[in-house]
Amino acid sequence: MRKNIRIGVLISGSGTNLQAIMNACESGKIPGSIVFIGSDTSHAAGLKRGKSHNIPTFVVDYPSIIRNFKKAPQQVTLPDDFDLYEIFSKQTLFPADADDATVKAFFIPRVIAEAAILDKMKNYSIDLLVLAGFMRNLTPYFIDRVNTVPGHPKIMNIHPALLPAFPGNDGYGDTFRYGSKVGGCTVHFVDYGEDTGPIIGQKAYTISEDDTLESIREKGLKLEWSLYPECVKLFAEGRLKTVRKSYALKNGKKMHRTVVKILPSPED
Ligand code: GRF
Repeated sequence: MRKNIRIGVLISGSGTNLQAIMNACESGKIPGSIVFIGSDTSHAAGLKRGKSHNIPTFVVDYPSIIRNFKKAPQQVTLPDDFDLYEIFSKQTLFPADADDATVKAFFIPRVIAEAAILDKMKNYSIDLLVLAGFMRNLTPYFIDRVNTVPGHPKIMNIHPALLPAFPGNDGYGDTFRYGSKVGGCTVHFVDYGEDTGPIIGQKAYTISEDDTLESIREKGLKLEWSLYPECVKLFAEGRLKTVRKSYALKNGKKMHRTVVKILPSPED
């Protein structure tokens, strides 16, 4: 018997991907339901979409948390279970030789915000956390508290480019400005890096001479709205397995990478 999964969603913006996933849950395409929608700002238009579907919402206001930290770094309250050195040793957003003060100033306010999100999430048990246009880097503090079973990641993200090309916060802009002839979108599990986690699915579109940034964004978003529900469905059906691979390279070095294997559907 198929289990219905419980999905939490985090957003920052208009929530069109959230809408696509909500629709797929409601039509029964995804065997699951969205149990909460969280945002890093009260201005996210997607919150209204959730409310109109009677889904509980919450906001953890990142801008004010970051502002308060900048104003009075000594006065902020850190979560009891926070270990800065653990974050330093696990994070891959900054190079190992990055200046300690810069790394601290980046991670501390984010961990404070993440502790507040975790506190809100305590009210719900979830099988999957979906980042649908959530424009904040997650730290190892948060990721480790959501991914509690080794080898079973449960945070998914959608990125508006064909990873590993053009990670970061402007995938469509970067694809366009580079003069790419093909663009696309990628759904992946979240790891400690920026858009570096194991790839679950990708869709591509072609870019012609007449395309503009706006037209490629339109093409890309249309693909996102079908790709994301498809990937969530695979997760809900228990068909996503992560596998650790090792390769011997020509230069004598070894490469290790966790990849996603898509298991066949029982109907196939
Ligand atoms: C999408 O392009 C997504 O890939 C990116 O942010 C955008 C969010 O759009 N991460 P929406 O909020 O789902 O409409």
